Amino acid sequence: MMSMITLILFTLLARIKSDNHTCRLIGQTGFMEFSKEGDLILGGVFSMSSTRTLIDNNYQALPYTYCTKELKFARTMIFTVEEINRDAILLPGVSLSYRVYNGCGSENLIRAAVEAISGENSKSCSDQVQALVGHSSSGVSGDMNLILSSLSVPQVSHLSTCACLSDRRLYPTFFRTVPSDRYQISGLAQLMKYFDWRWVGVIYSIGMYSEDGTADFVKEAKKEGICIEYSLPYSQISKNLFSVILDTLLESSSNVVLLFMSLSYAKSFLSEIETYKITGKQWIGTESWIMQSDLASADRKHILHGAMGFALPQASIPGLGEFLLGLKPSDEPQSALIKAFWEEFFDCSYSPSNTSTMCTGAEDLRTVSNDYTDVAYFREENNVYKAVYSVAYALHALLQCQNGSNPTTGKLCVNKNEVQPKLVLEHIKYVNFTTKNGVRVLFDEYGQSVALYDLVNWQMKEDGSAEISIIGQYDASFPKEERFILKEDVIIVWGGNSSEVPRSVCREPCPPGTRKAINKNKPVCCFDCFKCPEGTISNQTNSPDCLLCPPEFWPNENRDKCLPKPTEYLSYKEIMGALLTAFSCIGVFLALMISVIFLTHKETPIVRANNSELSFLLLFSLKLCFLCSLTFIGRPSEWSCMLRHTAFGITFVLCISCVLGKTLVVLMAFRATLPSSNVMKWFGPMQQRLTVLIFTLIQVMICILWLTINPPFPNINIDYYKEKIILECALGSAVGFWAVLGYIGLLAILCFILAFLARTLPDSFNEAKLITFSMLIFCAVWITFIPAYVSSPGKFTVAVEIFAILASSFGLLVCIFVPKCYIIIFRPEQNSKKHLMGKIPPRTI
Ligand SMILES: *[C@@H]1O[C@H](CO)[C@@H](O)[C@H](O)[C@H]1NC(C)=O
Ligand SMILES: *[C@@H]1O[C@H](CO)[C@@H](O)[C@H](O)[C@H]1NC(C)=O
Ligand SMILES: *[C@@H]1O[C@H](CO)[C@@H](O)[C@H](O)[C@H]1NC(C)=O
Ligand SMILES: *[C@@H]1O[C@H](CO)[C@@H](O)[C@H](O)[C@H]1NC(C)=O
Ligand SMILES: *[C@@H]1O[C@H](CO)[C@@H](O)[C@H](O)[C@H]1NC(C)=O
Ligand SMILES: *[C@@H]1O[C@H](CO)[C@@H](O)[C@H](O)[C@H]1NC(C)=O
Repeated sequence: MMSMITLILFTLLARIKSDNHTCRLIGQTGFMEFSKEGDLILGGVFSMSSTRTLIDNNYQALPYTYCTKELKFARTMIFTVEEINRDAILLPGVSLSYRVYNGCGSENLIRAAVEAISGENSKSCSDQVQALVGHSSSGVSGDMNLILSSLSVPQVSHLSTCACLSDRRLYPTFFRTVPSDRYQISGLAQLMKYFDWRWVGVIYSIGMYSEDGTADFVKEAKKEGICIEYSLPYSQISKNLFSVILDTLLESSSNVVLLFMSLSYAKSFLSEIETYKITGKQWIGTESWIMQSDLASADRKHILHGAMGFALPQASIPGLGEFLLGLKPSDEPQSALIKAFWEEFFDCSYSPSNTSTMCTGAEDLRTVSNDYTDVAYFREENNVYKAVYSVAYALHALLQCQNGSNPTTGKLCVNKNEVQPKLVLEHIKYVNFTTKNGVRVLFDEYGQSVALYDLVNWQMKEDGSAEISIIGQYDASFPKEERFILKEDVIIVWGGNSSEVPRSVCREPCPPGTRKAINKNKPVCCFDCFKCPEGTISNQTNSPDCLLCPPEFWPNENRDKCLPKPTEYLSYKEIMGALLTAFSCIGVFLALMISVIFLTHKETPIVRANNSELSFLLLFSLKLCFLCSLTFIGRPSEWSCMLRHTAFGITFVLCISCVLGKTLVVLMAFRATLPSSNVMKWFGPMQQRLTVLIFTLIQVMICILWLTINPPFPNINIDYYKEKIILECALGSAVGFWAVLGYIGLLAILCFILAFLARTLPDSFNEAKLITFSMLIFCAVWITFIPAYVSSPGKFTVAVEIFAILASSFGLLVCIFVPKCYIIIFRPEQNSKKHLMGKIPPRTI
């Protein structure tokens, strides 16, 4: 193909170069079908008939098929030229003429184009065309432009959509009034994105239009995050390709199929596929076939029902319908083609024959129904209309003359006889006008016009006919996100017999609570979803990352929300807190009971023995001990934290110093019974009180120091447990805490040692033994408490601490006082001085 073009081109250029005054006809002649003379000539190249062989340009062999659509384009061009000639404002005083060429097959069409630019009259160049309208096919237009551009002849195509034609280096004089496929492709990608069809298949036909288009679509889809499951070529002749397509369609998981095919391929593809049970697919078509309602048939209902695609917007052109329908063979007496069409339209014959009726030439086109006579709406014809007007406006601008120069270019004025294609080319780049039917026409730097499409939807009827309804619009003059508009309140029929928007995804989006991970070995749409790891959430679908919750928060079960962590502290309301409270109350009550019993039996020897004052003080301090355990229960506050350890420390020291006092009394009492001993004087009640006071004051001092330097404070511990917050009392100064505890321990051990020493001494009612025993309990409890306390924080630790307080308090209370109470109440006979004295071993008397 290319070599042929080059050949023609070189011959042409050689001719023009060698003798620049006379143009010679090159190549075959006789492609011209319709023409009219005037000042300036507009050429048009269409494929109204396609023959396998055109014999010497004579209408002898019956053309193979007739393309009524192309005839319609040619007639629309003529209509437009005539409309412009009637216009008083546009091109005043200049008559526009036309030459419409017909050809079929690339080779002939290029020859036709060459014929157009070389002119009718071989003697002069003045009658060559100033611009060319056509061709419909992208491939032909491209080939034609290779020749036209070398001579700077502008070409305006009404239907060549291939994006490749926007290449200004290859096709510098190419313009088009049909949007480039790039826009349609971008629109298709937007459409898929809009309905969230992320996993699609493409079937395309052989040829520049669909191969290039598919390649561009794949690129565009990738940009929009749409994945192509398969992209398969189709050709009528290859059974192999078709069976691959069929297998893929049956097995594929994607539900959306883009059929990127030129019309003839779409026709044959549909007739092949219709016999197979391919269901559940949403078909998407390209502009080349999506408006062809004659593709519909009852057998294809399951495929075409719900098909969608972009179509050129429909337009109305006043007067064009009547013009087209008013065509009579007598209007174009030289045109054999019209006669041929006539024979086809009316099934009559111009050549005498005994089978068919003779054509009269007076038949009315309104009585037949085909592509040509369908004048309800115009879509592609509007592009021809715009193409002719754009040339006219360019000529108009070129012929403007003000003060001797052209207002647009500032160059010298051009007379209508001096017009050259090169000059028209200069002006056509800048046309900017609105047609009579309200469409703005202007070309961008690539010769493209503004893209506007209707989104159409096939709604098949029972009888197999299709109603193609407009459900939306795509306007490329808007910013990318606003280009695609779906009409409101229209019924949309979905493919695959689906009552709602079909789903077509490789993977459903990752729900909140999971993280999307792209698998490197698969398309991006076939990602994996992983559950968010512990402590993290994702609150959006398809979240690429899981976010860490803030420190005070913790993910819920679904890991899609951060909830405040539950707080934990020992409360009165829970069973453990309530039980401990009850025990401490029981302790207070018991201590109170014992106090009452002791008070009522104040005068009995057992109470009086071993210093009753210390006994009452001990009972009092034990009550405080029980009560101080209550400060550990409940939500930690500033006060409760300060109170907790200090109250505990002081009351326990008070308690133990009382016990210590008692032990000392026992020890002293023994010494006192020894001769020459005056110890009792040294350790009278006064000294006992002082001892207790001093021991307690030391603890008070420690506590004051602790509170002033670094007091305990309520703390929110979020670090220890991941899933909960511990409300605790921080120690402030650990030294303070351990000093308080250590001091208690010191006193307790001292007390224990003294009591141990005194345990064998004969005292009244074995008090020393009981004290030893109680101190043993005390120390054991606190030694077991320390590891528990040092380990995990939380309410159980607090509970253990309370338990230790209660246990040691109960230990003291029970060991020291209960035996005495028993004697007071149940063995009153033992509660006598005599009995007491009797217990003292004889040695001491
Ligand atoms: C036309 O050809 C002649 C020679 O044949 C040459 O002198 C002249 O410059 C050419 N004119 C143009 C415009 O090329
Ligand atoms: C026309 O009729 C003649 C005889 O009546 C017959 O021989 C001839 O085949 C017919 N032509 C056609 C085209 O049917
Ligand atoms: C032509 O030029 C003259 C002076 O340069 C100016 O006065 C006049 O208005 C111009 N006419 C037009 C139609 O621009
Ligand atoms: C085309 O003309 C319209 C109105 O006359 C104007 O608003 C618009 O900017 C023009 N466009 C270009 C590209 O010159
Ligand atoms: C479409 O769906 C309707 C009801 O949902 C059912 O009756 C009909 O058979 C389906 N058609 C096809 C082709 O599956
Ligand atoms: C998701 O979480 C982020 C950060 O926590 C927050 O800013 C955003 O508002 C949340 N979005 C939704 C939809 O909850």
